[in-house]
Amino acid sequence: MKNQTPNDEVRSRTSFNKDWKFFLGDEPGARSPAFTDTKWRKLTLPHDWSIEGKFDQKNPAKPEGGGLPTGIGWYRKEFNAPANFANRLITLEFDGVYKNSEVWINGKYLGKRPYGYSSFSYEISKYLKSGKNLIAVKVDNSAQPDSRWYSGSGIYRNVWLTSAAKISVAKWGTFVSAAQSGSVKIETQIQNKTLKSQSVLVAHTIYDPNGKLVLKTKLQSLKLDTSGRTIISETQISNPILWSVANPKQYSMQTQILQNNKLIDTYETKFGIRGFQFDAEKGFSLNGKPMKILGVCLHHDLGALGAAVNIRAMERQLEIMKEMGVNAIRTAHNPPAPEFLDLCDKMGFLVMDEAFDMWAKKKTKNDYHLNFPEWHKTDLEDMIVRDRNHPSIILWSIGNEIREQFDSTGTAITKELVSIVKSLDKTRPVISALTETKAEKNFIYQASALDIYGLNYNHKLYKDFLKNYPGVKFLATETTSALETRGFYDTADTIRRWPKDGKTKFTEGNKAWSASSYDNVSAYWGSTHEETWKEAKKYDHVSGLFVWTGFDYLGEPLPYAWPARSSYFGIVDLAGFPKDSYYMYQSEWTNKPVLHILPHWNWEQGKSVEVWAYYNHADEVELYLNGKSLGKKSKQNDDLHVLWNVNFEPGTLKAVSRKSGRDILTRVVKTAGAAAKIELVADRNNIKADGKDLSFITVRILDAAGNVVPDAENLIDFKVEGNGFIAGVDNGFQASLEPFKASYRKAFHGLCLAILQSTEKVGVIKLTATSSGLSKASIVVKTGK
Ligand code: GAL
Repeated sequence: MKNQTPNDEVRSRTSFNKDWKFFLGDEPGARSPAFTDTKWRKLTLPHDWSIEGKFDQKNPAKPEGGGLPTGIGWYRKEFNAPANFANRLITLEFDGVYKNSEVWINGKYLGKRPYGYSSFSYEISKYLKSGKNLIAVKVDNSAQPDSRWYSGSGIYRNVWLTSAAKISVAKWGTFVSAAQSGSVKIETQIQNKTLKSQSVLVAHTIYDPNGKLVLKTKLQSLKLDTSGRTIISETQISNPILWSVANPKQYSMQTQILQNNKLIDTYETKFGIRGFQFDAEKGFSLNGKPMKILGVCLHHDLGALGAAVNIRAMERQLEIMKEMGVNAIRTAHNPPAPEFLDLCDKMGFLVMDEAFDMWAKKKTKNDYHLNFPEWHKTDLEDMIVRDRNHPSIILWSIGNEIREQFDSTGTAITKELVSIVKSLDKTRPVISALTETKAEKNFIYQASALDIYGLNYNHKLYKDFLKNYPGVKFLATETTSALETRGFYDTADTIRRWPKDGKTKFTEGNKAWSASSYDNVSAYWGSTHEETWKEAKKYDHVSGLFVWTGFDYLGEPLPYAWPARSSYFGIVDLAGFPKDSYYMYQSEWTNKPVLHILPHWNWEQGKSVEVWAYYNHADEVELYLNGKSLGKKSKQNDDLHVLWNVNFEPGTLKAVSRKSGRDILTRVVKTAGAAAKIELVADRNNIKADGKDLSFITVRILDAAGNVVPDAENLIDFKVEGNGFIAGVDNGFQASLEPFKASYRKAFHGLCLAILQSTEKVGVIKLTATSSGLSKASIVVKTGK
């Protein structure tokens, strides 16, 4: 092979996010290059215009959709044609546009993509001209309501421009499936757009997770006709380094195509080597080791940042989940951003990748059911082909609580969808998240096409599942739907179901728009965190569970009325602050020592307050109030916490966990005095000056002695200096109507959040927070290359 000169770039993939113009509204003339957009706003993608808007109960997306504006928007971008374009394949790739995108280049129509969660691309070589070219994109999210949660609006994921040779690996053109033994099967789709037959040589080079070359396949000589060709090679990696949740190591493969002794394409594929199994009796195992799937469902929004993809924001969500002990994510209820899956591969999460929330039967008036007949095949195929190299993915879900499970049309569609998946990937099981619990009445189940029975809710049925469905593999695809507001505590003698049933109007608890963090409220179809986990942990045949949900998400504020506009189901609030149940999971799902006590210690004198402790690695916990012991408690039977009824008196509440008489952990909560000062804590003090990186600043309202004031609601004003800006603010309150894009926020139960984003200039970002009557605080975050 000849050495390549640097100008001989064989393949490039560059970000196409910068220098877009945006107009909110319809402007049909904007497709034409002659249109003047000088007055339009300049922006960098990814962009979600909904999150910039004002909450209003009259917004057509309704509170269920987040209560933010939707509508039509136009994007335009002028760019220079890539070098040598006439001899190349130039492709414009969109990771996702919500929704109904239509794209023009130089006034010529490229196509339409209704589903807002699909990745798609257009080959634009033949439309390009030397010098300036123009892309125009219309995004139409005006027909509402169209979703049961917040979707966002706009080009909310990344856009890329790729340049490859006319003979090259096709888009998403490799599929590497590797077994635990190290046997590797490589499928490679090679395209030939030269309009004549060609001869080439192809080889793959595989590098191990440490970057060491482990294998080079023999050069394979190939004749290609004009439709290209798919080739299969099989090889063996000895002593493979396995991908796992604890050790998420990936291999990488370089596919090279040569012609006339010259390298014409290099294509990189990351993959992992692992084996997994679902067993009807024993549940899930990864690389031969039994392991329960400890999962959460996540919607795609990033809180105050909306749907606009940001890698650091997704990584932070996953870090918070990892810290809690989560080992699996269900991408409810749609294909995620590709970078989300990259993070799961890298950080060690198993993934249930889900295609749809509805098929031909609707859930909301203008949802995807309108596009399903024409588009489901393309959308499902594209999800599988895009995602099938990710070692994190262990399940393909063809749908969530699909209406067709209740009628006979469900059977044929199930069979069709499963066969689409199997035609593209036979290595992973196919599942659907079902709610109809009677097999004979469930038409999706009746198709006998699914590999695993996925059940939503109904945790009381876990026990006898195997009796009722002998030999059937089982996964709790969605559980819980408990309701909680961070920092809000309301004791109750019995567990409450809000709403009570499907008929009774919900009238309780509306005043504070808050649900208790004592884990004593759930939707009637769900169960509390403890109720659910107690059942799921008991039975080996329950392969695992996906709790609804890891984080609060925008929309679906059920059961609350306006101004509630985001969900209460999260184990962590929308701002990323854990609710108390987080520590119940941590005490059960991780190996690190945990002791967490709740609630705060600011109550009326004499009030009887329940004090709970979640703990592990200890035999007992002793509680002290102002130095006096209130007794030792140990979890009995299947208890997940201990509790004391304490008559409140101000002072210091202290809990000590002990094992064999030895102190393990101590936790202290003190009665806070009046709010006196602000404290700022950054999750990262050094970030990249790449215009994307974020530092999440937690704002804490403290009394003079440094205790968080649990009912503080002070309005905080932010000032930013230097090389960054505020990307969003939040406080986790589900019924706050303050905007997310602002330089102020009220605290909620003592906390709020400011998200700082870097520019591309190296330097510092200084954030100052002030509030009347409080001493101010500032923090400096460094930004570097
Ligand atoms: C489920 C549904 C989820 C969410 C949840 C709320 O039935 O699958 O998307 O709506 O209920 O409890």
